[in-house]
Amino acid sequence: MRYVYLTTFFVVVLTVGVLGFRGCTATKPPLEVFPDMDRQGKYRPQAESAFFADGRTDRPLPMGVVARGDLRADVALYQGKGPAGEWVRGIPAAITVDARLLQRGKERYTIYCAPCHGALGDGNGITKSYGMGATPSYHDDRIRIQAEGELFNTITNGKATMLPYADKLEPSDRWAVVAYVRALQRARAGTVADVPASHKAELGIK
Ligand code: HEC
Repeated sequence: MRYVYLTTFFVVVLTVGVLGFRGCTATKPPLEVFPDMDRQGKYRPQAESAFFADGRTDRPLPMGVVARGDLRADVALYQGKGPAGEWVRGIPAAITVDARLLQRGKERYTIYCAPCHGALGDGNGITKSYGMGATPSYHDDRIRIQAEGELFNTITNGKATMLPYADKLEPSDRWAVVAYVRALQRARAGTVADVPASHKAELGIK
């Protein structure tokens, strides 16, 4: 009985192998049992249309329409710039700086920035051990004195060899990361005087 199965198996393999027309191109569409809505009447962008008088599928906007919601007119919030094009200092008023924002910033920072800039912001991320040594430390004076708007811009548009992160971080998340970078800088600049009295004992100081 086993041989019957084996013979059948080999005959099937041989038949499919020889008659399976591998590499052949068929001119007829494959047999479709369920078409799965593969073909449907629809307009593709910038295609021609016989329906509209001007022959375009793209419809022009009616006169006087105004974009609502994502106009992004607030340059400080969306570009980190002030009225004269200077970098804004501080986080724009539309963003509330609280523990929740910092928590969000920490989370996004850990995902998107820490691989290069390191968890402490000192430029010693994991990529350094793979040969990427040019990541600067946020604790350099040059970056410590940068305005928040400039940090925001670095995240939005990238800088030199650093790629932009605008596609991964919403503007509000970018500000959250800026706030967290500031927190990292503040923490690095901390002294014993910043330690609350109730925690001094843990550090062995009075
Ligand atoms: C793939 C590695 C990499 C990642 C990820 C990365 N950076 Fe950078 N970053 C760099 C490098 C490299 C530079 C130095 C660019 C240069 O000047 O050549 C830099 C520079 C900077 C600077 C200094 C810009 C200046 O003015 O010199 C800031 C601030 C900064 N990054 C913030 C961030 C933040 C915030 C994130 C996360 C959203 C991030 N980076 C993610 C590699 C990275």
